[in-house]
Amino acid sequence: MTVAGERWWSPWRDVDGTTILHVDLAPDDARERRAAALLDDDEAARLGRILSARRRREFVLCRAALRVVLAERLGCAARRLSFGYGEHGKPFVEMDGRRADAGFNVSHSGRHGLIALAAHDALGVDLEERVPRQDLDGIGSLVYGPAERRALARADGPEKVHLFYRLWSMKEALIKAVGAGFSLNPSAFEVPEPMLRGGRSGRFRFPHAPSESWRLLDLGGEGFAAALAYRMRVPDRSGA
Ligand SMILES: CC(C)(COP(=O)(O)OP(=O)(O)OC[C@H]1O[C@@H](n2cnc3c(N)ncnc32)[C@H](O)[C@@H]1OP(=O)(O)O)[C@@H](O)C(=O)NCCC(=O)NCCS
Repeated sequence: MTVAGERWWSPWRDVDGTTILHVDLAPDDARERRAAALLDDDEAARLGRILSARRRREFVLCRAALRVVLAERLGCAARRLSFGYGEHGKPFVEMDGRRADAGFNVSHSGRHGLIALAAHDALGVDLEERVPRQDLDGIGSLVYGPAERRALARADGPEKVHLFYRLWSMKEALIKAVGAGFSLNPSAFEVPEPMLRGGRSGRFRFPHAPSESWRLLDLGGEGFAAALAYRMRVPDRSGA
């Protein structure tokens, strides 16, 4: 279902079996009202509790789009869908109250949102608008590991801003793939070394859980930093 045929999301990337949609989050009151009409009671109540206009827009436009695309994937009406939440808040979809077989993850930042869709839910997507900030090294010292901090300290000007958000989106995608939220200390792991030097993809293991391999992809471009992480299905026994 769409709202009078209107869609504010469109295909963006297809990578390794994951479909990623871009969600247009430009301010549009009429669109937001139409999107709000697609939410269920729980979501409408949550929307009512969000005070910031920007955060309301991010939530309602991404969640309504997510409902429509998941309903299409699952071949059912969007009203049959509801969302459950893991221990640290990672959402999963239910159809008629039972967990459905559809993996997804959502990210939103300013004017852009991303919805990643896959057959499994061990995936995380992150998008960050590159908002210029003071003291990137200071913020980095709280969330980045030693090699990441050194790389950030070496960079300057626009290059520093790019690296800061690139690292942020990659680490956040990994945290979101696990679903661990703030329970995982982001300075306790680092992105793969070749990616620190500009590589666009790599294999990653969390130091506390080395038996699981994750694939990490830097999807950033001109408009924003973005990354996707997903668990590799075949157990990796090479030790590499
Ligand atoms: C939700 C969280 C995981 C990401 O927050 P964020 O970057 O502000 O927001 P994003 O727009 O990328 O993602 C929000 C979406 O992720 C999903 N989400 C919420 N909790 C999640 C979790 N624990 N795991 C994965 N996805 C989650 C939701 O769909 C949410 O959108 P919605 O509420 O509109 O449905 C955040 O709470 C968090 O814990 N971040 C880790 C903190 C950190 O230290 N980051 C440093 C990076 S270096």
